[in-house]
Amino acid sequence: MLFQVAEDSAAPANTQVPPAAVMTQLLFGKHIAYSISAVARLGVADHMTDEPVGLEKLAAGIGAQPAALYRVLRALAAVGVFEQTAERRFRLTPLGALLKTDAPGSLRYFAMQLGDSWSVRPWERFADTLKTGEDAVSLAFGKNAFELLAEEPAQAEMFNRSMSALSLAMMEPLLAAYDFSPIRRLADVGGGHGKLMAAVLHEYEHMTGVVYDLPEVVAGARGQEHAVALGERLRFEAGSFFERVPAGCDAYMMKFILHDWSDGHCRTILQRVREQLPADGRVLVIEQIVMPTAELSFAKLLDLEMLALTVGGRERTQAEFEALFASAGLRLTRVVTTESPMCILEARRDG
Ligand SMILES: C[S@@+](CC[C@H](N)C(=O)[O-])C[C@H]1O[C@@H](n2cnc3c(N)ncnc32)[C@H](O)[C@@H]1O
Repeated sequence: MLFQVAEDSAAPANTQVPPAAVMTQLLFGKHIAYSISAVARLGVADHMTDEPVGLEKLAAGIGAQPAALYRVLRALAAVGVFEQTAERRFRLTPLGALLKTDAPGSLRYFAMQLGDSWSVRPWERFADTLKTGEDAVSLAFGKNAFELLAEEPAQAEMFNRSMSALSLAMMEPLLAAYDFSPIRRLADVGGGHGKLMAAVLHEYEHMTGVVYDLPEVVAGARGQEHAVALGERLRFEAGSFFERVPAGCDAYMMKFILHDWSDGHCRTILQRVREQLPADGRVLVIEQIVMPTAELSFAKLLDLEMLALTVGGRERTQAEFEALFASAGLRLTRVVTTESPMCILEARRDG
């Protein structure tokens, strides 16, 4: 009874399903996540199509032990990642197809990264984070995530790929939701390899852009195909957003930046932006907003990731963003929602 989940999954949880079963299923969420991460790492989806494939052939293709692989595929079929069409045959579902390396909106690297040791081990210390407020990466490794990744190139590469993949998945909804046409020169502060900027510049031919990031990131970005293709229209600039941001732009975009940092750090970043912002300029903060409702959202879960893995990073409510902007002499003027969980918070100079 303990492990049995009600067959009628549409039934309200607290009337049909014993609380112990609900609790057990919640706790075993990690088994699903790690199984998805493992099949992503082995490239299982790349060896599958929507035609059923035999277990032995699949196992041979990815170098796995058939009996172990079978148990993982069977469990993941139960949650819709694969479909089991016969005793030892499986095919890919639309959910599982997201684990293909080259699928549009692929989440393969994101899934792999969740199984990397820098991302897994801190959870052993999460209760201590609750007691001390210190991030669990520092507690587990004696150094914070940025310091750790600087010493772990393979895991850093996986993290960057994972971020790029997530970015790519959110690109179309962003472009569809926001009209960039009034902007002539756009900065992407902490813009990574500049893929979002490249997508914006492709869409808006009158625009030019500056991607600003740390020297080691910029060094890896210059020369990449998407950057070369845009020639003079896309420039990279290296530096730290705690010291300065590029001059001469009429809009400053920051995607997935503020959620990495404490309120104090965010204030400094926004102040650096405000110093360069022309009177009619705009700041575009692209983040999720934690809604003041009880439902579980990706923002609330990502907020826990930020609590465990970053020094002071967090997801914020709209009121918290408004307070941040105000602390740096900016005013929230508009919130544009997108088809993805991301919103564009547009801010202007406050006087
Ligand atoms: C979570 S990633 C977001 C990247 C990109 N905006 C995106 O959405 O995919 C954070 C970015 O901030 C950059 N970064 C961290 N510290 C920085 C600093 N002091 N100055 C400039 N960029 C920084 C990182 O190198 C990384 O590219």
